[in-house]
Amino acid sequence: MANWFHITPDRPYFCVVGSPIEHSKSPQIHQAFAAQFGIELRYEKIKVEQNYFSEALKEFVAEGGRAMNVTVPHKEDAYASVDIRSERADLAGAANMISLGRDGETIADNSDGAGLIRDLQTNLRLELRGSRILLLGAGGAARGAVPSLLTQGPSELVVVNRTGSKAKELAERFGSLGPVRAAEYSSIGDGPYGLIVNATSLSLSGETPPLDPNYVSANTWCYDMMYTSNGRTPFLDWCRSVGAAGCSDGLGMLVEQAANAFSIWHGKEPDTASVINSLR
Ligand code: ATR
Repeated sequence: MANWFHITPDRPYFCVVGSPIEHSKSPQIHQAFAAQFGIELRYEKIKVEQNYFSEALKEFVAEGGRAMNVTVPHKEDAYASVDIRSERADLAGAANMISLGRDGETIADNSDGAGLIRDLQTNLRLELRGSRILLLGAGGAARGAVPSLLTQGPSELVVVNRTGSKAKELAERFGSLGPVRAAEYSSIGDGPYGLIVNATSLSLSGETPPLDPNYVSANTWCYDMMYTSNGRTPFLDWCRSVGAAGCSDGLGMLVEQAANAFSIWHGKEPDTASVINSLR
């Protein structure tokens, strides 16, 4: 077995597991939350290559780890590797956190959707009830967002994706939760939208989704689930250039999903605004 973790008995051990992992802000975020309550913990970022997740999880459990966050590319593997799954993890088909139960059982959960909703509603003060929402992309990130957005009661959620069949699959899977339909970029229907969420991986390669600018108006808020150090992404730059009301990247979502995990692990609600500000 490889030796991924550096667990010592002096402090409870937490980590985030992914690849790449060098740029993860999770250790900084969790240490900042812990400092708010005088909690001492160790929180490391651990690189685990694709296909090695379940082996790493076994080591984590055997060595006495407390809980972990999980990021790309392991969220689906994390979901599949555990003993127990939360309802939120079931809906997303993926886990971004694994906790250990009293008897050492592994429990998968997913706080990404809650983090997104909290950032949109509490931090950005957007009204989702009755709003028209356009979601770009139908991969893992989009799948986590759809059920969370639908439970906020939008009047319409349209999922648009390059590969139409994946958008259709999402719309069918979650149709019982609210008014959701699939569309192609070339035939989305009437615009503009109140909120456009980019859940594609295009910002990573410096590209923008092939969206007609007519879907963005002076009343449209644009959100990129990806985050950058200065809050700018290619998609948000494009939205600004075509007249969006406002733009935000996914840094707030990142901090809020961490806060949700922290509150489950430590039983305390951390202040997130100060942490978001200090990361900027
Ligand atoms: P993640 O887990 O980050 O969501 P993913 O599951 O690989 O990553 O999904 C990537 C999303 O970006 C998909 O919706 C993908 O569209 P396809 O399903 O058609 O692949 C979208 N995407 C990636 N490259 C794209 C491109 N050049 N144009 C439009 N959409 C793109």
